[in-house]
Amino acid sequence: MIKTSLLLRILARGPLITSCSSKNGSGYVAIRSASSLQEPYESSEDDESNNNIDWNNLGFGLMQTDYMYTMKCGKDEQFKQGQLTRYGNIELSPSAGVLNYGQGLFEGTKAYRREDGGLFLFRPQQNAIRMQIGAERMCMPSPSIEQFVDAVKQIALANKRWIPPSGKGSLYIRPLLMGSGSILGLAPASEYTFLVYASPVGNYYKEGTASLNLYVEDEYHRTMRGGAGGVKSITNYAPVLKAMCKAKDRGFSDVLYLDSENKRNVEEVSCSNVFILKGNVLSTPVTNGNILEGITRKSIMDIACDFSYKVEERCIPIEELIDADEVFCTGTAVGVAPVGSISYKGKRTEYKMSTELACLKLYSRLVEIQKGTIEDKRGWIVQVD
Ligand SMILES: *Cc1c(COP(=O)(O)O)cnc(C)c1O
Ligand SMILES: *[C@@H]1O[C@H](CO)[C@@H](O)[C@H](O)[C@H]1NC(C)=O
Repeated sequence: MIKTSLLLRILARGPLITSCSSKNGSGYVAIRSASSLQEPYESSEDDESNNNIDWNNLGFGLMQTDYMYTMKCGKDEQFKQGQLTRYGNIELSPSAGVLNYGQGLFEGTKAYRREDGGLFLFRPQQNAIRMQIGAERMCMPSPSIEQFVDAVKQIALANKRWIPPSGKGSLYIRPLLMGSGSILGLAPASEYTFLVYASPVGNYYKEGTASLNLYVEDEYHRTMRGGAGGVKSITNYAPVLKAMCKAKDRGFSDVLYLDSENKRNVEEVSCSNVFILKGNVLSTPVTNGNILEGITRKSIMDIACDFSYKVEERCIPIEELIDADEVFCTGTAVGVAPVGSISYKGKRTEYKMSTELACLKLYSRLVEIQKGTIEDKRGWIVQVD
């Protein structure tokens, strides 16, 4: 029998572009591109310079950075040692578990630069724990918390020149865990890859910091009971694209999903959690396995307790949003975003906007903790350098 080892270059390598150049119309930034997996990391003089970037107009698009981190292990093994290499395309077998059966997870965390130049992460251990829980659900081995946090720190340091100046944005760090080994019949893959890359980002929505107009979807659902909605499985995201694109084409910012059983209870937005405020009570849907347990969600709940709000995790029927005082979304990518309107069954409900919104007060406190201008009494901040 002939043993074939087909290797697929997932994306054709683009032309080699030397030296930094500025952003063109598509938000693509040409940088030194180099072949991956060959050149190990070496800190050099020019790591500090990045003068051509317009830090004032960062959106949430991919801007290639210098280095990525890769660590592999076999099925039934443990991750041991990873390495930094130049950012570039990766090779995968056409029969890789992730390509054929969606055996993959992602995470998202950010590195911030403070006024004094120091680099910080926000609760990266929580992302590590969430990846471990997700890996168990998706039958994958996962990096230890120490390995995960160490990789995230290494990526922040190696790509330091891509971390925006204080207040202009952050370095979004994207860890992936995937079944990279070959498999033909449905089963867990034979090999796993933990990969971390990063991109500088500003605001997630084109609305910037303005309020969001959400479309309440009652036809498509994000997940269902017994599914994988509670973990950051890559399989939860492509199925929402249709509802999301339809809503965006009609001028909405994003979609708010309802539970698939009753088509009535609020779950979350495509990649953020949702809260409602009524009087002094702040409520968010209880995490019942359908909802991604956001780190921003948990942090905002803690901060709300500090401000003496009554915080409830419970089932929230859509009718309650209609007479809420405030509705807002939370996530690492979006931060805390006030909702200006929701549209449900042809009826639009608008919320009063002002600079006095409770959600903005909660968000300011979170940002102050991240900036270091207020005491981090819960140990949320991790210093990188
Ligand atoms: C990532 C994500 C969130 C937000 O989680 P954070 O940890 O706050 O970034 C919320 N909902 C979904 C579906 C997500 O994928
Ligand atoms: C931007 O650059 C990329 C890569 O060189 C190219 O594919 C794309 O067409 C460019 N877009 C514009 C609008 O020039």
